[in-house]
Amino acid sequence: MDISGYALVTGGAESARHAAMLSLKKEQAAFWSLISTWRRQRDPVAAHPDFRAEAMRVDVSQEDSVRDAVSHMTGLFGRIDYSVHCAGVPGGTSDPISTASFPDFKRLLEVNVHGTFLVTRAVSAAMKAQDPKPRGTSRGVIVNLASASSHICLPNMGQYNTSKHAVLGITKTAAIDNVSHGIRVNCVCPAWTDTPMISQAMEVIPGLEQRLLTDMPMGRLCRPEEVADTVLYLCSSRSSFTTGTGVIMDGGMSLSIKS
Ligand SMILES: NC(=O)c1ccc[n+]([C@@H]2O[C@H](COP(=O)([O-])OP(=O)(O)OC[C@H]3O[C@@H](n4cnc5c(N)ncnc54)[C@H](O)[C@@H]3O)[C@@H](O)[C@H]2O)c1
Repeated sequence: MDISGYALVTGGAESARHAAMLSLKKEQAAFWSLISTWRRQRDPVAAHPDFRAEAMRVDVSQEDSVRDAVSHMTGLFGRIDYSVHCAGVPGGTSDPISTASFPDFKRLLEVNVHGTFLVTRAVSAAMKAQDPKPRGTSRGVIVNLASASSHICLPNMGQYNTSKHAVLGITKTAAIDNVSHGIRVNCVCPAWTDTPMISQAMEVIPGLEQRLLTDMPMGRLCRPEEVADTVLYLCSSRSSFTTGTGVIMDGGMSLSIKS
């Protein structure tokens, strides 16, 4: 795929971000930078011989932390061609709205919504200030990780549903505000994906695994590399007329689910 340049990728060394990084590497992107999470981790992608990656600790819910990360990235590489925002948290509880936890609601808004807003805002400013790529008119591409829960509402998941609807809202707003600057902004909306986030949710929600598989017409979870393929498509010029969308990839779940 026709991708080269510099990418800012948020999230730790876990699956969605990791799969995105590996796919970008396979597509022979020139150099990639990543932002890691609050823990410094040994990163198998960064260890690839042809691969340049800079990891730094960032809390995406904190304005100063995001601003420092973006200026660190532009200082290192001079520009940001792609921003792939994977950092996020799942709901810590599963309750109907009548008893839903307010601390949990605030935590999800802080990380998933404030984080998406702050990263999208800072990257948009950096991209607006840079020249278009020589072989095109693109100043940059932003891809946010939203969710099937950006489009549908699963029961007892008010905190997560709300946060992911907001991620889609931020994405659409950024797309229209950035369109005249040659910056495309989209999000990917996967259903249940086989990552540590889902393992954590299974620990707190009794019977979740069985329920998930029942919900999925394909009888399986989404794979991280399938999410990465869609991220890659949205980063590439093959999606050059696509902006402001939330690409649903749910194996048909939303076609039949009773929400
Ligand atoms: N796994 C799923 O079923 C699923 C489905 C749809 C959407 N998503 C979304 O995909 C994205 C990636 O999720 P994943 O499944 O790879 O989860 P994950 O838990 O494996 O990765 C999320 C990463 O975000 C990091 N993070 C959390 N809070 C942070 C903060 N304040 N600052 C910086 N980093 C922070 C975590 O440390 C972790 O490394 C998330 O936005 C998630 O909501 C996941």
